[in-house]
Amino acid sequence: MKIEDIIDYLPYAVMGHDIRRRIFLFNKEAERLTGYKKEEVIGRDCHDVFPGGFCGERCAFQNEIIIPSNFEMIHYPIEFVDKKGKKHMLDVRVKPIVDKEKNIAGIVATFDDVKSDIEFEKELNKIDEFCGIVGKDPKMLKIYQQIKSVAKVSFPVLIQGESGTGKELVAQAIHKLSPRRNGPFVPVNCGAIPDTLIESELFGYEKGAFTGAIREKKGRFELANGGTIFLDEIGDISPLMQVKLLRVIQTGLIERLGSIRPIKVDVRIISATNKDLEKEMIEGRFRDDLYYRISVIPIKIPPLRERKGDIPILVKKFIKEISESFSINVNSISNAVMKALLNYSWPGNVRELQNVIQYAAVQAQANGRNYIELSDLPDRVLFKKIEVPKEVNNTQTLTIEAINEALKSTGGNKAKAAKLLGISRATLYRLLKRLS
Ligand SMILES: Nc1ncnc2c1ncn2[C@@H]1O[C@H](COP(=O)(O)OP(=O)(O)OP(=O)(O)O)[C@@H](O)[C@H]1O
Ligand SMILES: [Mg+2]
Repeated sequence: MKIEDIIDYLPYAVMGHDIRRRIFLFNKEAERLTGYKKEEVIGRDCHDVFPGGFCGERCAFQNEIIIPSNFEMIHYPIEFVDKKGKKHMLDVRVKPIVDKEKNIAGIVATFDDVKSDIEFEKELNKIDEFCGIVGKDPKMLKIYQQIKSVAKVSFPVLIQGESGTGKELVAQAIHKLSPRRNGPFVPVNCGAIPDTLIESELFGYEKGAFTGAIREKKGRFELANGGTIFLDEIGDISPLMQVKLLRVIQTGLIERLGSIRPIKVDVRIISATNKDLEKEMIEGRFRDDLYYRISVIPIKIPPLRERKGDIPILVKKFIKEISESFSINVNSISNAVMKALLNYSWPGNVRELQNVIQYAAVQAQANGRNYIELSDLPDRVLFKKIEVPKEVNNTQTLTIEAINEALKSTGGNKAKAAKLLGISRATLYRLLKRLS
């Protein structure tokens, strides 16, 4: 059997071309994935065959960029358009072929489809929770799909989103679904570690590296070997640390403080930030080379106010969690509470919702109820400014707080309360109805 026939049996797509990009190798799996037949591609320029490009911006055989001969392999994701025009996300590995004189003679590439869109979408329509992440808003379903496809490959991922949107949860999900799932998941909050300590935290130190270093210590990168490191608040690291981090990403090597012996680490990097990192880069606070390295795959988590439809299922989950983990017997909320939760803007996102539900459940229990009522909610959620009906001459904006106050001070007498507020009784009734 010829070697070329054997290559046809490989479960991966394989393509090879010479230094002039003339394709000389194309196996059956490559035919299946791309939709092109071997006869159509052999001997042709790779760029002519695949007009959308196979190597993105990374072609090593154009614009005088040549893969250095000591480059072991390049590995990248690419959106590829097949012969029928269908898009695929491909995971591509390229290795140079080097001749006896150590000159590059061409490349051999393997590639694999990292997701099958349609099947996954079908699956998604049925779910409202994914790897511990609750939500069925289309924006969240898209994120589940991204998680699933990036989990399979080890490229750096950058997760962006406001505080409390679930960035760490998404990072954990990527790790749990990845081939590294049995390795460690090591989170590092770059924003919380002082600048003077972050280097030794990340890279470790040798005994005697500095006063107080009485024994050697492994850094988080070493601890994450074989797994994933989660660099939270990466937008907060200093320019010097940015350089050091870039070097680790480029070489896969770290150096402990006080040592010049590089240590090879096999770590997947997931970063997160609630800053607009692109803006930070444009304004010169974040290195562009590091930005492009860590943001190979960006995931943007929308704020909770843009997916309010998920609030009811999140509330349900949090109530269940609370009643299971604390000795609190609260199992539902009133309609008015749900309305108030849906009206609020949630600047602290899902974390704030979780805290509010915990707080309210404690209040409800303390008041001898097993359901949450309006009065159990913290003031900021409740006392949303409400619009005053047109017929009110008084231009002052009425708050629920003001209305409650008025009712309280009049012993619940609505006519008197209305008078106090400077509105008609009918208006007060309308307002109360709207708020319940
Ligand atoms: N979609 C979700 N489903 C269930 N729980 C969630 C969801 N999103 C966030 N949470 C919960 O909210 C809290 C905050 O989430 P997480 O720590 O992942 O947010 P973050 O984006 O990393 O926030 P920060 O920027 O403040 O670090 C956690 O307790 C997490 O479990
Ligand atoms: Mg976080």
